[in-house]
Amino acid sequence: MAAAILPVRRNLKFHLPKDRIRDWNGGGAHWTQFMNTLSLFFPAGERFFIQSIRNYRNDVTDPELKKAVSAFIGQEAFHTREHEEYNEAMVAGGIPIDEMEASVQQLLDFLQRNAPRPLQLAVTVALEHLTAMLADIAMEDDRFIRNSEPHYEALWKWHAMEETEHKGVAFDVYEEVVGKGVGAYALRSTAFILANVIFWSLFYRYYYLVMKSLGEHRNLSGWLQSFRYQFGKRGVFPSLFGDWLSFFKPSFHPWDIDNSHLLDEAEALMQQVDEFAARAGLVSQAAA
Ligand SMILES: [Fe+2]
Ligand SMILES: [Fe+2]
Repeated sequence: MAAAILPVRRNLKFHLPKDRIRDWNGGGAHWTQFMNTLSLFFPAGERFFIQSIRNYRNDVTDPELKKAVSAFIGQEAFHTREHEEYNEAMVAGGIPIDEMEASVQQLLDFLQRNAPRPLQLAVTVALEHLTAMLADIAMEDDRFIRNSEPHYEALWKWHAMEETEHKGVAFDVYEEVVGKGVGAYALRSTAFILANVIFWSLFYRYYYLVMKSLGEHRNLSGWLQSFRYQFGKRGVFPSLFGDWLSFFKPSFHPWDIDNSHLLDEAEALMQQVDEFAARAGLVSQAAA
């Protein structure tokens, strides 16, 4: 197993203030909804990741990797739970994402029923790399979540930190059960291209629909600001392009990009979440 990092399950609750779903991010309404649109993919996506790894659970023999697989499943299950709550806040806030979430679920259910299991795992490996890249930039460059409502900021940091922590797990399972040869390489590379095309075309369609539902789709300066964050100098996509390409190296492993220093934030995050829980307790006591 290439990754020496064993992920840790952290059962955290974020008590998101739901009335801030439209403006929690200091980067403005369009950037807030960029992040919110990402969230709508997580519950169905992460359930798919869990299942594609579970399919092979009994085939993994390396004892360390077995432990990492259990932790991966635990982490993704907690992410799913917290993003379900997040997405409920979107619906309650007048952003009608129910149908979009259902379409993502249908697409992934279809894959689960019809695609060969190695392909399902390859799709997970591909999307985990995408998630790990986004997680890296969200933590390395705090423009993307700074000046934000602290509960939302903590949730995104927690998710990004754990995505970093478990970024090697699906890949290691893939190499153990599908292999490291030419066929395995071709499958993961093809899955990466397909996953990118399908994910980003769905993402931008939904991002537009979300903005439209808020009546912000004609706000040109909002779009420009968001596109600067995405494609401008030091923007998300130009910054990530090198890491994106590195997936096509035959010898690629997620931990070739060593950003393990991001895991140092775990303790401070846990403390912050404890404070949220204490405050939420006080509020509910006062209301009683
Ligand atoms: Fe996750
Ligand atoms: Fe993940």
